[in-house]
Amino acid sequence: MIRIVIIGAGNVGQHLISAFAKSDTVEVIQVFTRNPKTVSSIDNPVKAVHSYAEIMEADLYIISVSDSAIAEVSENFLFENKLVVHTSGSAAMDDLDAKNRKGVFYPLQTFSKSKEVNFREIPMCIEAENPADYQILELVSKTISDHVFNISSEQRKALHVAAVFVNNFVNHLYQIGYVICSENNIPFEILHPLILETADKIISLSPKEAQTGPAKRNDTQTINSHLSFLSDTTRKEIYRILTKSIIDNGKKL
Ligand SMILES: NC(=O)c1ccc[n+]([C@@H]2O[C@H](COP(=O)([O-])OP(=O)(O)OC[C@H]3O[C@@H](n4cnc5c(N)ncnc54)[C@H](OP(=O)(O)O)[C@@H]3O)[C@@H](O)[C@H]2O)c1
Repeated sequence: MIRIVIIGAGNVGQHLISAFAKSDTVEVIQVFTRNPKTVSSIDNPVKAVHSYAEIMEADLYIISVSDSAIAEVSENFLFENKLVVHTSGSAAMDDLDAKNRKGVFYPLQTFSKSKEVNFREIPMCIEAENPADYQILELVSKTISDHVFNISSEQRKALHVAAVFVNNFVNHLYQIGYVICSENNIPFEILHPLILETADKIISLSPKEAQTGPAKRNDTQTINSHLSFLSDTTRKEIYRILTKSIIDNGKKL
């Protein structure tokens, strides 16, 4: 049995606790939270501690706290030469204190405490300083996910930027579409099938092949008509930049 301590019981910490609860090979023996109230909402309770001195001996320590607190938390550990990982998409593995063996255990998904996820479908991006620790992380990842990837800190940084484009920015574009619909008394639900088909299409086609619309067709008349429809300067600017990017991308081989 691989014994794990999870540090932090936020969105990711709580989902990890639930996912590991189904495993026969991995056991979460403790969760550390600085605030005792944070653990009250966990569905699968594990023993919670709130001081670094109470943290037990384990095979793996998973730090799942805010990015800005990762270095500080890893410095606070009272033990040495243990395998310590964080779950961040943007923090480097070297943000972890050097007194322990470092690694990364990044689940590439968006998590909220109140929204259930199927962990088996979530890509696990893992990295370790040495091959033996990588094997432990691979084993632990495979107990909860069917998709495990060896991703370096440099690659993870790039992946995180790509994820901001395909998730955060796309979601913001939904928000702009939502406002435009509201301003014109159109139910946003009318766009749901289009949103779903657009996302579904890039599973079988490359994004470039799947691109449609006035920018792809270089339809200047429609583009100009859309630009004059938009009164908000930020929305106009976003429309212009994305249109230029689609046109430029179409010229590339
Ligand atoms: N949420 C996502 O979608 C997602 C996806 C993939 C990876 N991640 C990564 O996973 C990590 C955790 O994210 P999250 O969304 O779970 O964050 P979160 O819900 O905001 O939870 C962060 C936890 O960190 C604790 N914390 C903050 N500062 C601390 C400190 N100085 N000492 C001890 N504990 C501290 C907080 O404790 P209190 O409750 O006491 O404030 C809180 O429980 C981050 O590295 C994030 O980048 C997040």
